[in-house]
Amino acid sequence: MKKITKKLEEISCGSGNLKQFPKVLSREDHFKCPIWFANAPEFVKELNQASDSYIKFAKKNLQKESKKKQKELKNHSEFGAVYHSTSLIGDPKFNTFQNYIGATSHNLLDEQGYDLTNYQVYITELWVQEFSRSGGGHHTLHTHWNGHISGFYFLKASEKTSRPLFQDPRPGKVMTMLPEKDASKIDYATWQTNYEVKPGLLIFFPSYMPHMYAVDPGIEPFRFIHFNCQAIPKGVLDAYKNQK
Ligand SMILES: [Fe+2]
Repeated sequence: MKKITKKLEEISCGSGNLKQFPKVLSREDHFKCPIWFANAPEFVKELNQASDSYIKFAKKNLQKESKKKQKELKNHSEFGAVYHSTSLIGDPKFNTFQNYIGATSHNLLDEQGYDLTNYQVYITELWVQEFSRSGGGHHTLHTHWNGHISGFYFLKASEKTSRPLFQDPRPGKVMTMLPEKDASKIDYATWQTNYEVKPGLLIFFPSYMPHMYAVDPGIEPFRFIHFNCQAIPKGVLDAYKNQK
């Protein structure tokens, strides 16, 4: 036993001759993950109005599907429900907003250093969703495959509603996590971040970044637009056009 303890002491780090070695080394950051924020309150009123009919339709559809569930759970039948609309792409009421996020996504890919000469950026998905007022609305952790920029635009939100959470996209790092000294700080030990959101806030992030929504208590309305953009090779687009 004594032998083993001695051996462990020999290979243990963080004790012994610390003073002999430098405490501050030069450091470079690599493989950073951006999340971008913008305030765009000018769309809130108009897009809330334009979204109303989509949410109404989504609620109606969900209610049809869950008639049996409604009977079983009575007033709590919509606990955990999220009303997802159909696609908003092409609806003229969302055109200005669509142009805003399309152009910004292109710029953000360019800003990161990607060469888009032979690519065209498209919005592949754009939809509005609202969490149930019975509470329990949430999103499990996911990424948007085959995409390059994703984002949220908040239409109804407050400090009492759900919030988006982002997780470190490096699975190896998450697998070997050590306890954080201070989880309220963003540092190299951070593995998850979350943001309190309000109407008018726009968030952009790389589509590879895992994200989720915390369980909503259903106290106040929570509605947001979610979108995904993809850079498609121009060669593929040309081949498609020629086929036509
Ligand atoms: Fe998502």
